[in-house]
Amino acid sequence: MTLPITDHPIDTPPRPASPVHQFGTLAVHAGSPHDPVTGAVIESISLSTTYAQSAVGKPIGDYEYTRSANPNRDNFEKAIAALEHGRYALAFSSGSATTAIILQSLAAGSHVISISDVYGGTHRYFTQVASAHGVQVTFSPNIEVEVTELIRPETRLIWIESPSNPTLSVTDIRAVVTAAHTHGIKVVVDNTFLSPAIQNPLDLGADIVVHSVTKYINGHSDVLMGAAALNSTEIYERLRFLQNAIGAVPSPFDCWLAHRGLKTLHLRAREASSNALRIANTLEASDLVISVNYPGLKSHPQHMTALKQQRPNKDGVMMGGGMLSFRIKGGQRAAEAFCAHTRIFTLAESLGGVESLVELPSGMTHAGIPRDQREAAGVYDDLVRVSCGIEDGVDLERDVLQALRKAVVSGKLNGNGAA
Ligand SMILES: Cc1ncc(COP(=O)(O)O)c(C=O)c1O
Repeated sequence: MTLPITDHPIDTPPRPASPVHQFGTLAVHAGSPHDPVTGAVIESISLSTTYAQSAVGKPIGDYEYTRSANPNRDNFEKAIAALEHGRYALAFSSGSATTAIILQSLAAGSHVISISDVYGGTHRYFTQVASAHGVQVTFSPNIEVEVTELIRPETRLIWIESPSNPTLSVTDIRAVVTAAHTHGIKVVVDNTFLSPAIQNPLDLGADIVVHSVTKYINGHSDVLMGAAALNSTEIYERLRFLQNAIGAVPSPFDCWLAHRGLKTLHLRAREASSNALRIANTLEASDLVISVNYPGLKSHPQHMTALKQQRPNKDGVMMGGGMLSFRIKGGQRAAEAFCAHTRIFTLAESLGGVESLVELPSGMTHAGIPRDQREAAGVYDDLVRVSCGIEDGVDLERDVLQALRKAVVSGKLNGNGAA
């Protein structure tokens, strides 16, 4: 049989992306070798749950059983490690499973310090699940200042979400890491709100960076997944053991979809950031709004820290991310009315997709947190959270303005007292 002659030999060796490459090149190529047999440029989805062995304990290839390892998961993990500047990455079935496995890796009796305004599900895990296996969590509204006095002999971990969900407060990661490392304590940063396209916590000294891949990394609101990236071989081996032992792993199809999604992460992050800055400026200029939380605004209390920690776009301008929140005049009724009146922004939980979303944290994502704790972290009933997608900014701005008018002005006419 004569083989067809092609310009590109079919046995083109895989071309691994190198750390010297810029983010966009890594996003497209890291963990994406050409198939050495067929030359396929895009990897196939390896659905097989089990892999043949030539003799007992001698698998033919690199794989035995899909919970332990799978080609699609391996490739996705390589890509995440490259994008987060880590030696290793691990993928999990959700962001929440990632959190759970890191907390499971701590011995009973361990103590954790966390920022106060973490994602509601993280708060739920810390307060209602971790405590059941003997791990206690202390929440701090001002971790940079309080960290040293909160450290106990049994403190093992510090948990940061920066920017936080939903108040977008920014933590000085390096400052907390410096204090933590003095006491031999590890620091985890939830980087879900910015994605590795904008912030790399490992470069700021963090020990583990975690993601709800469900959000920006996948970016298309059709996959539930999580990931962690890190440099320590010891922690990697422990988490990898738990990944297999607990089995909270993503399916090959989800790994494939999320890997496809992350190839455009840098483009989506840029567009979402520019839309968010535009909406934040519009809201800040409106007299129907009490306050706006967006790290890209000069008025944000930690704007300078955000500037220091976040990667700028190609023009050297801070990207800021696609997430913001604001307090609307007129209380909870105006906030609910705003969400009901937007036409392009969909009222829904989640964030980080190509489509713009709005939600009310007090009644949705953060409803499980007691009111006093919620309000102490700035999550009032009139706080609206906005996830800017990649639609045209001018349309998003018009949508926000018309919804604001309807929510606040019509509320006033109905006697809601939009003060
Ligand atoms: C900041 C943050 N971390 C973690 C999670 C949990 O991720 P998942 O929904 O993928 O379990 C979420 C979910 O919204 C989140 O917003």
